[in-house]
Amino acid sequence: MTSSASPARVLQHDLLSSRLSFQSISRATVLDTVLVLSTIVLPIFARGVIIRRPWAERWAARLNLDLRAVKLLQRLRRKYGSQPLLLRIPYRPDLLLLAPEDVDYVLQSSPDPFATATREKRAALSHLESNNVLISDPPERVMRRPYHEQALATQERIHPLAERFKEVIDEEIAGILDCQKSGLFGHLDWNVFSAAWFRIVRRVVLGDGGRQDEALTQQVNRLRSRANWAFLLRKDEGQLRAFQQKLRVYVDRAEPGSLLAAAPKARNVDPESQVAQWLFAFDPTGMATFKTLALLATHPHYLRQARNEASLHAPDLPFTRTCLLEALRLWPTTPAILREITDARCVDGEDIDKGTGVLIFTPFFHRDDERWVLAHRMDPETWNSGNALPAKGLVPFSAGRAICPAHNLVPLLASLTLAAVISRVAIRLVSPVLNPKILPATLNHFDLRFEINHLPVDPSRATGAGGLTS
Ligand code: HEM
Repeated sequence: MTSSASPARVLQHDLLSSRLSFQSISRATVLDTVLVLSTIVLPIFARGVIIRRPWAERWAARLNLDLRAVKLLQRLRRKYGSQPLLLRIPYRPDLLLLAPEDVDYVLQSSPDPFATATREKRAALSHLESNNVLISDPPERVMRRPYHEQALATQERIHPLAERFKEVIDEEIAGILDCQKSGLFGHLDWNVFSAAWFRIVRRVVLGDGGRQDEALTQQVNRLRSRANWAFLLRKDEGQLRAFQQKLRVYVDRAEPGSLLAAAPKARNVDPESQVAQWLFAFDPTGMATFKTLALLATHPHYLRQARNEASLHAPDLPFTRTCLLEALRLWPTTPAILREITDARCVDGEDIDKGTGVLIFTPFFHRDDERWVLAHRMDPETWNSGNALPAKGLVPFSAGRAICPAHNLVPLLASLTLAAVISRVAIRLVSPVLNPKILPATLNHFDLRFEINHLPVDPSRATGAGGLTS
């Protein structure tokens, strides 16, 4: 389709190719465009798109920035209506989505006509994984996506290696809690938790041989820090090569019991580029797991339910999984899902150029209290019918053909980790104090701090310890 096609023909094409289409769009004023850039786009960039910056997260949480962003978009929806809002940013026009139906339509219509490989993603991710599926054109995407789907067992609720992963998690969590609670009392913060979490990640992804390889995690993090700057920083070819060479040794070894062993043995997909994404994406998984712990500590009845579930020692923990999904709804780790229009089109008399961006700001849909009375509360039941609800705009893992291929693995590993913690210790959230009736829209995982205490001998039946939430 070209920009010279008549609006009627374009709309007809859209209606034929998909269930729904953009019937109309609105055009934002310059002032509103600047407001969106300063309230939404700039903070996302400052907080770090590929690796979070602790100082920026602290600042964002202090100002509850995501709530400001939600309020702005609600105001724009009242002003312009809920059709996509065109932000005429020079060199990078963007359609900002304001209706869940449009979220559903765009995600179900990816990668064509809404490409996943946007300019910003290419610029950022090429610092560490230039051939990753996320930034691949459709022909390469078709080759690379199965690598992830097989290794991460995308279609299976319980990964075939779940029992092995449970052992790893139990060992590593027992390691930090036994050490922390010596004297029957201690604290759990992000530094302690994340050290154990990344040992789990390396054992799950690379095998036990990777357990002590903190240098590899640091290498990924250095590349991620450069990736935060996207176009603004030159690629460090030397660092990238050193990281890939190191990773290749693990890929070739494919230690039994690891995700690498579960992956297809195909070299033509550039496994290093694919696996770099796993090492990177397990960081937000840890963040979300830790925030779920904060949610459970704030809701004693849900904590009791999760602890009862943990006492069954099963790999499938359905309730705890829904708690993790709630944490991802309340504090999505991917606040911006981006797409790029692959064909010029004309909607509502406006030419939309090829390459126009589409921005789905997930906190807006996840926390839209004008549509949803429980928006700022924890309500695990929301997720009883699945972990992607695009028709409601609830898409922590995205949706459609580019849905996160770890959308089953993440809840599995997170719920096993939570079970390992709460079956061993009583927890109390020391900071920040959360109000369960109105949870903050921004929560900084770096500053979460729990008091932990020994549970009585049979942890699964414990109801309280030393005044702590159990
Ligand atoms: C809290 C945890 C995670 C969340 C919320 C999450 C969410 C997402 C989202 C929103 C996307 C973007 C899809 C799109 O553009 O529409 C994505 C893509 C992807 N994620 Fe995750 N993810 C998580 C963890 C993981 C983990 C642990 C892995 C691997 C072990 C992983 C592997 C991938 C891959 C390979 C893609 C690209 C998929 C494609 O383009 O086809 N993710 N994820």
